Amino acid sequence: MVKINVKNCLCSFTIQLIHGMFQKFKDGFPYVQYLSPLVDPEKSLQQSISFYQNMNQRRSVREFSDRMVDQSVIENIIRTASTAPSGAHKQPWTFCVVSNPALKQQIRIEAEKEEKKSYDGRMSKEWLNDLAPLGTDWQKPFLEIAPYLIIVFKRTYELEKDGHKHQNYYVQESVGLATGFLISAIHQAGLVTLTHTPSPMNFLTKVLNRPENEKPFLLLPVGYPSDDCWVTDLRRKSLDEVSVWYQ
Ligand SMILES: Cc1cc2nc3c(=O)[nH]c(=O)nc-3n(C[C@H](O)[C@H](O)[C@H](O)COP(=O)(O)O)c2cc1C
Repeated sequence: MVKINVKNCLCSFTIQLIHGMFQKFKDGFPYVQYLSPLVDPEKSLQQSISFYQNMNQRRSVREFSDRMVDQSVIENIIRTASTAPSGAHKQPWTFCVVSNPALKQQIRIEAEKEEKKSYDGRMSKEWLNDLAPLGTDWQKPFLEIAPYLIIVFKRTYELEKDGHKHQNYYVQESVGLATGFLISAIHQAGLVTLTHTPSPMNFLTKVLNRPENEKPFLLLPVGYPSDDCWVTDLRRKSLDEVSVWYQ
């Protein structure tokens, strides 16, 4: 580590240069200088348009190819997800990555058991009507076909080795945000996913042998779409429908 002390050179704080970044201490806590990307307004507009247009192409896909994905891509996607904001920076999430065929098969069997019960009576008529245009049913072959399943667990609290519990804050919101980042990163990598919620999902805790402080949040198959992949022709709400402006 390169560590250059420039104490008292720039201000009253101790400022040092670590890995090319300035660091100072306030009330005993380290701070680093936020380096703004400094985009000019015209470029900012262009970037906001192209990011929107790219994200608007994202779709939930249910027909996957079994084509393999480089593990490093999945690692980077998870790194990105973990940059999401979280209550008191607790990062209360665990991403379980399953590529083992036997485990994927077991997850499919358990998920389909629950989904069959849901479609055969647990879901209301209204719910089934809302799902009808999506063409979903209890069968989930993508759970075995997609090369990776990422199962997001929320960590309701942290468990010390001595059994002491530390609380996490705004766990639901934080993990929802991290999953949003995850889905965006999957799309940016040219891959597809589906936000899947086999309900109830408790079987995932058992199958993946997760500790008692973790609860399954969402299950996302990740990979390439099948060669002949179709998705429902959806309309997204307009800006006027989703925003209210107070000027
Ligand atoms: C919290 C949540 C749970 C979902 N659960 C399922 C699911 O279990 N099965 C499924 O096929 N799609 C599921 N979806 C996907 C939605 O149906 C999909 O996002 C929606 O139809 C909009 O399509 P789009 O993602 O292509 O924009 C879920 C989405 C969300 C956000």
